[in-house]
Amino acid sequence: MAEPFFFGASTSAHQVEGWNNNDWTEWEKANAERLSRESGHRYAPKNYISGRACDEYHRFREDFDIAKALSHNAHRFSIEWSRVEPKEGLFDEKEIGHYREVVLALRERGIEPFVTLWHWTLPLWLSRKGGAEHMLFALYYGRYTKKIVESLGADVRFWITVNEPEVFTGNEYLKKRWPPQKRSLRSWYRSTMHLVHAHRAAYGIIKKRFPKAKVGATMNLVYFESGGGVVNDTIAAGAHFLRDRHFLNHVIAWSDFIGLNYYFHSRVYYGFEKNLNQEVSDMGWEIYPEGIYKVLIDLARRGMPIYITENGLADARDDKRGLFITEHLAYIRRAMEDGADVRGYFHWSLIDNFEWDAGFWPRFGLVEMNYETMARKIRPSAFAYKTAIEAWERK
Ligand code: FCB
Repeated sequence: MAEPFFFGASTSAHQVEGWNNNDWTEWEKANAERLSRESGHRYAPKNYISGRACDEYHRFREDFDIAKALSHNAHRFSIEWSRVEPKEGLFDEKEIGHYREVVLALRERGIEPFVTLWHWTLPLWLSRKGGAEHMLFALYYGRYTKKIVESLGADVRFWITVNEPEVFTGNEYLKKRWPPQKRSLRSWYRSTMHLVHAHRAAYGIIKKRFPKAKVGATMNLVYFESGGGVVNDTIAAGAHFLRDRHFLNHVIAWSDFIGLNYYFHSRVYYGFEKNLNQEVSDMGWEIYPEGIYKVLIDLARRGMPIYITENGLADARDDKRGLFITEHLAYIRRAMEDGADVRGYFHWSLIDNFEWDAGFWPRFGLVEMNYETMARKIRPSAFAYKTAIEAWERK
């Protein structure tokens, strides 16, 4: 049976579940005051502490009802490693049972689960050993993956191994922004390669047990646009290679699809991100739908199915999101006509959530969160997306 085109939204465990106990939880508590100060006290320290987040851990059914009402036929979420393996080598069957319920709740609603095995957060025992830098990272990750796949594999067809390795390693080991806030080329390279090995290990483990499952990584790829001339061309090509191609080249032979997270356009003009910034999101990220076309056409040469596993913007007033979605979908359609084998689109995100070191203030959701009452309110753009999904199917 041919697969339908998948439309849905993405979340990640730490950003929506609440009640976590992992390396980020500790880091947030230690850094909330500093981050608040650096915001000029615009945001209180509590903005920077994930705490109960959206309480998705208890409210996933309610949110999946919303997704279904919005005509989503797929949903991407991640499993929180620190819940499943809170102590080294000891798995918590109750927590695994929780994720089984999550998968079944999606299936009951006719929504295809896309399961991310690892979206950045680490169990404390592993972060204390050095996290992704640890020599045995891929081994630990493989052991966890095996457990999850044995427990959920009968009901999951699409697996995402690691989320945005380049964003993770860049922020942790080059920019010194995220835990463990280190600046070291050596650590950056080591952790990148450990993630490559982790991906390959997961691919082998999943395919051995469930040969028909589809496995891929998600990458945050940038459209680097040269401002022209040899120097800019060279910088753009170099950045593209180091940031975007390096990981992909290492995992492509162990992948059934490419997961693309598209957010950024970088106009290279004797430096990076010399964007004209005609239109930006609340985060100051440039809105540039044409970039998704460029990245897709570049990926098309790999001859592999592509799922757009994230694409979205922070837009508290919701006055840009609707158009943002329809314009990106139009460029995706064009890329498909020009040869990109795109099989699905997941908007980031279903609900407002905890945006890492920016905390709660950025509003990425199709659904608005009231963090006081935990009430969900569907934004108008969510209906624009629903209309686009329904129109797409008729084309
Ligand atoms: C991506 C992350 C995701 C979310 C969006 C806004 O880089 O994968 O968790 O934070 O950005």
